Formats: sequence, C-alpha cells, structure tokens
Amino acid sequence: MTDTDRRAAYVEEIRRGAPLSDELARAFATVPREAFVGRGFQDRHGRWTKPGDPGFLDAVYRDDVLVTKVDHRVPISSSSQPSLMAIMIEALEVEPGMRVLEIGAGTGYNAALLATLGASVISVDVQADVAARAASALTEAGITGVRVDHGDGYAGAPGHRFDRVIVTVGVGGLSPRWLSQLDPGGVAVVPVEHAGTHPVLAVRGTADGPVTASVVCPSGFMSASGPLTAAHQFAHPAPAAPGELAALREEKGPRFDPPLGALGYRDLWYAAGVWHRRATHAAIPGVDQNCLMLLDEDRTGGAAILPDGAILSGGAEPERWANDALDILKRWDAAGRPPMRAWQVTLALNGLPDAPIWVPANWSL
Ligand SMILES: C[S@@+](CC[C@H](N)C(=O)[O-])C[C@H]1O[C@@H](n2cnc3c(N)ncnc32)[C@H](O)[C@@H]1O
Repeated sequence: MTDTDRRAAYVEEIRRGAPLSDELARAFATVPREAFVGRGFQDRHGRWTKPGDPGFLDAVYRDDVLVTKVDHRVPISSSSQPSLMAIMIEALEVEPGMRVLEIGAGTGYNAALLATLGASVISVDVQADVAARAASALTEAGITGVRVDHGDGYAGAPGHRFDRVIVTVGVGGLSPRWLSQLDPGGVAVVPVEHAGTHPVLAVRGTADGPVTASVVCPSGFMSASGPLTAAHQFAHPAPAAPGELAALREEKGPRFDPPLGALGYRDLWYAAGVWHRRATHAAIPGVDQNCLMLLDEDRTGGAAILPDGAILSGGAEPERWANDALDILKRWDAAGRPPMRAWQVTLALNGLPDAPIWVPANWSL
C-alpha cells in the first residue's frame, strides 16, 4: 500500500467513528503519526511494534490507541484513539490563531494536529522523559507552534492566557488554574471521572464559579496523577478488579431484546452514575466485557446490570442492591432512555483543601 493510500484509508476509518471537518481530515492526512511513536508502541493485544517491524505503518495508521509507555504492565502514556481525538478537537471549536492549553502531552501527536489547524499550543506532561520525547518528535515532524512543558498539569501554564483548554488524561475534576487562564467565553474539553469511566465534558466557567458542562462522548482515558485525581465528596468507587467480587447470581432476567448496543449501554451507565453514588464497573466472571456495577461498601458484592438489562447480585444484601439496580432501569426507561449528551452538569469545588478541583456534583436533563 502506498503512503497516500494508507493515510486516505486512515482518515476514512476515523470518519466512521467521528464526524470530521475538512481541516481536521487534512490534519490527520498530513501529520506523520509514526514520528510520534518512534520508540514503538504496544497494541491492544499487548504486542510491541517498532519502526522497521513488518506492519508497523499499517498499525500506526489505524483508528486505535497506541500505548507508548507502561509501568508494571499498566499503560502510563499513549497516543489516544484518533476518532476520540477527533471528537474532542471538534468539541473544542478551535480556530486559526487560538491559544490552546493541552494537559497530557503524551506523544505530542494531538498537539501537532492542533498546531496544524493553526492553534498555538502549550502542552504539559508530568513525566519528564515523555515531555522531552514529545518535544523532539514535534521538531522531527517539522511542527511549529507547540511548546512542551514538564510539570503537573494542575498548574496549567502560569503567566499565559488561552482561548481553549483540552485535557487528554482522565481527571476527577478541573483545576481552577485552567479556568483562571482561560479567556471569558472559552471552553475546556475534559474527560472527568463518572461511574468508573471518563465521559468527556465541554466545560465553561470561571475559577471562582459558577462552572457548568455538557457531555460530549464516552471515553476510557488513563487516569492523571496528583491532585487532579484526588478523592472528593462526589466521587464514585474505583472499578472492581478481576477477582475482587464474590459470586453473583441472576436476580432478574434480561429486559432488552436485542441487548443495548455499546453506546446505549454507556447512556444507561451515565444515568446510573447520576442516580447512584456506588455506580462503577466490574469484571464479572463469565461476562466478556466490563459491566455497570453498583458496588457495595465491602467492594465484594452489590448488583451488576448487563447490556441485556439482566441484574446479577451478591454480597451481604443482594436484594437491596438488586432493587436499586431495578429502580435505575425503570427510571431510565421512564425518562425516555436519555443519551449521555442530554445531561447538563453543575460542578462544585472539592478535593484537596490546598489544591481543589471542580467536580461534577449536580445533573439535570
Ligand atoms: C493519553 S496520554 C496523552 C495523549 C497525548 N495527548 C497524545 O497526543 O499523544 C496521557 C498523558 O498524560 C500525562 N499525565 C498524567 N498525569 C498528568 C498530570 N497530572 N499532569 C500532566 N500530565 C499528566 C501522562 O504522563 C501521559 O503522557
């Protein structure tokens, strides 16, 4: 396959997962993604691929996440899934000449796309080696207009002002510093923890509030380090790891025929997070995907809602948790099965006293 054909197929694959403006399609077609993964990457199947390996470029130009750094098998840096990047960049409504703050430089590829759209970008990464590699990849790819800083993204870029903020790592809430560096009318596009995943929010507000948001799309970003993921009053429990749960048994049979598709299930999941403080996800033995779970305080039981609407429960009070799950299903149906994009979010200042964050606290349809 020629380079041109490969890039054209790449853009078409991204387009199947995200609407693309002409400008963004051109950016995906012209920025050389391979320059940003020069030390290779791990694909979804755990295989490392390096430049020169057979199929390297085919794997680079695919609508898939490329994990570029792992620590004890846990991904700690990556180039995100291009269709997710596309949805977030479109939500950012970036125009030539805008100043953009990016938190999570990673490989530098997202910053390169933003710069190709005409933005000037300051991108921050907490890992010194990652920030240094992103900076040299940008130079190697001939991208100008991006500065990469090393530091905790909580601080943003002190002394600078921005038209837009984009966060490419999962956070518990927004740093007030980003909002004070954002010009009035600006938007911050941020994946904020909700029921164990990171739905992307389009957030508007000032450092002192009020801060409100709409929901853009689901995402599965890795979590940030530092105060951006500090425990807070409104947080849901962390997902239950494989083996953490005691045996669950079916309390209610399937409700949806056919079962909810991936997006419908995410919509139900989002609503469950609004209505239940213990909503998260769990690996359920015998089920081949992570499931929406109302996790009890012992973290060994509660109730899982499967994509077909069946409820499994277990632990100390299986009936109580199954009833909570049934209430959520009925409430979601009665509300007309609202998509996650239908929710409006009000955020509250919470987290660490000396490094607070704006976290989702109230929702309305
Ligand atoms: C998914 S990657 C970012 C992808 C990147 N935008 C790209 O185009 O390749 C997430 C990055 O966030 C960084 N990160 C984690 N916690 C952070 C924090 N508190 N401040 C700044 N960066 C952080 C990680 O080091 C990692 O490189």
